[in-house]
Amino acid sequence: MGRLTVDLAGVTLDNPVMPASGTAAYGQQMAQQLDLGALGGLVIKSTTAEAKVGNPRPTTAPTTAGWLNAIGLKNPGIDVVLSEKLPWLATHYPNLPIVGSVAGNTFDEYVAVAAKMATAPNVKLLEINISCPNVEKGGLAFGTDPAMVENLTREIVMAVDKPVFMKLTPNVTDIVPIAAAAEAGGASGLTMINTLTGMGIDLKTRQPILAHGTGGLSGKAIHPLAVRMIHDVRQQTKLPIIGVGGVFTPEDVLEFYLAGANAVEVGAATYGQPTACTDIIAGLPAAMDKYGIESLQDLIAEVQG
Ligand SMILES: Cc1cc2nc3c(=O)[nH]c(=O)nc-3n(C[C@H](O)[C@H](O)[C@H](O)COP(=O)(O)O)c2cc1C
Repeated sequence: MGRLTVDLAGVTLDNPVMPASGTAAYGQQMAQQLDLGALGGLVIKSTTAEAKVGNPRPTTAPTTAGWLNAIGLKNPGIDVVLSEKLPWLATHYPNLPIVGSVAGNTFDEYVAVAAKMATAPNVKLLEINISCPNVEKGGLAFGTDPAMVENLTREIVMAVDKPVFMKLTPNVTDIVPIAAAAEAGGASGLTMINTLTGMGIDLKTRQPILAHGTGGLSGKAIHPLAVRMIHDVRQQTKLPIIGVGGVFTPEDVLEFYLAGANAVEVGAATYGQPTACTDIIAGLPAAMDKYGIESLQDLIAEVQG
C-alpha cells in the first residue's frame, strides 16, 4: 500500500482525490486538461432517469469567496450515461474507479437510476445526491428529512450490490441526525457536503445574478463549514466519509482528514485551476512530510481510532 492509498468501503483508491460531482461532467473535457488516470477516482455528474436540459443562463457566478451555481442537474439521462459516457471512461481509463452519482425527484426514480448505474462494471461506488426536491412531498429536499433519508437509503441499498454513499446537504439545522438516518438505512458511507443555498443581487439591474434566483454556494467560503460538519458527524459514526467543500490545497485535504474524512472531492478549485486535482495529489507527499504524516492510513487510524 502506498502512502496515499485509501480504502472506501472495500474499494481501494490509489490516492484520495476525486473531482466532485458536477465539476468534471463525465470526464471527457477534463481529460484534455489532465491525466484522469492519476486521479483517485472520478465522480460523474448527478444522473437522472431522463435527460435534463438544466436552468436558464446565467447558471454560475463568482462571489467574494466562492461560486454560486444553479446548473439544474443538466445531464443526458442514465441510458446515455450507460451506453456512452461510462464505456468511454472504461475504454480510456480502465483502472479508474468511477463514483456513480444518482439523482431523482421521486423514490422510484432514485432506485431505478441507482439500480441501472450499479450495473456498469467501472462504477465502484454509488453516491446519492439527496439535495433534490421530492415532488411527491411538495418539493421538500430529500436530504432535509431524516425519515426520508433513512427510507431512501434502505430502498437503494436493497436494489444494488455496490457500496452506497449518501451525499448530505448542509442546508439543514443539524446534519448529525441526517447522517445517522443514512447509517440506519444501511449506507456504506457518507459524502459531505453539497453546496449551501445562497443568492447574489446585481445593483445595476436589481435582479439576482443567477437567472434561477438562488443557487448553491461552493468554494473557499464553505470549507470551514464542511470541516465543522465532518467533525461533528465523525463523533457519532464509523462510516467512511468523503469530504467535499472548498478544497484547494494539500493542506485542505489534511485538514479534512483531521476532521474525520477518509477521502476528498474537489469542485470549485478546478474553475480557476483546471489541474487542481492532480496538483493537489502531487503536493500531498511534501505536505505530509511537513506535518509528520507517514501515510493516510496512519492518519486515519490516529484520528478515527
Ligand atoms: C457547477 C457545479 C455543479 C454541481 N453539480 C452537482 C451535481 O450534479 N451533483 C452533486 O451532488 N453535487 C454537485 N455540485 C456540488 C459539488 O459536487 C460539491 O459538493 C460542492 O461544489 C462543494 O465542493 P467545492 O467547494 O469543492 O466546489 C456541483 C457544484 C458545482 C460548482
